[in-house]
Amino acid sequence: MNPETHPAQSAILLAAFGSRLPDASTALERMRGRAMAEYPDFRVETALTSGTVRRHKSTQGTPEQSPEDVLRRLLREGVRTLAVQSLHVIPGDEFRNLERLAHSLQGPDGFERIEVGRPLLGNREDIRRVASELLTVLPPQRQPGEAVLLMGHGTRGRANGVYADLAAELRLLDPLVLIGALEAEPGLAAKVDELRVLGVTKVHLMPLLFARGVHATRDMAGAGGNSWKSGLGRAGFSCEAYLKGAGEHEALAGVWLEHLREAVGRLSA
Ligand code: CO
Repeated sequence: MNPETHPAQSAILLAAFGSRLPDASTALERMRGRAMAEYPDFRVETALTSGTVRRHKSTQGTPEQSPEDVLRRLLREGVRTLAVQSLHVIPGDEFRNLERLAHSLQGPDGFERIEVGRPLLGNREDIRRVASELLTVLPPQRQPGEAVLLMGHGTRGRANGVYADLAAELRLLDPLVLIGALEAEPGLAAKVDELRVLGVTKVHLMPLLFARGVHATRDMAGAGGNSWKSGLGRAGFSCEAYLKGAGEHEALAGVWLEHLREAVGRLSA
């Protein structure tokens, strides 16, 4: 049989949380483009890990696949080896579920080989690296003496500790760069206290989220009273917000792609 008629036996699955906002797909599409360029012999697929987002997309007439849908289809289509790259920021529930799914599909009736790439902040070394990469993507409008506050998502699980570790690394590099979490501690109130102690008057807000979804546009930068931007304003800071998701910054996308490279490397190890 002509080799061109075979589907590729190796594939890459890029799995992001997903977002209800169409603008948020830019980060995932760019990542897909970069993976396709780097691995021409692999099929590159994408999936959204959030059931809530997938249900919303279906009602909008733009259904998206879950990681399980894609993996089962790839199995049926004859893919034997697979690298799954998490596009999450922390090794929280979304990542653990992805890992569990991948491992459950390896074996006699599943994939011969399946490897999962770490999220952005997957280990100590990642945290150090991301801290230094973050300093290269801070808003150029920032003047000396002005602070940058990164908004992470946060989790109730143990993985929430990575935010404190990242904060400590950032403090060593630039004491005016802080990170807080939207849905966990330390939240905005704790960060406002820190900003006061630091004596800054101006704060630049940036999401530490893969894509510019609802959390970045509404909860961080929105005009509503509950947004971080509004909260900082009430606390007396002047504030500018930037929406670009972490996956849209080349320097940070490069960290996820490095994790993919490691996972692909393990496939043939
Ligand atoms: Co959330």
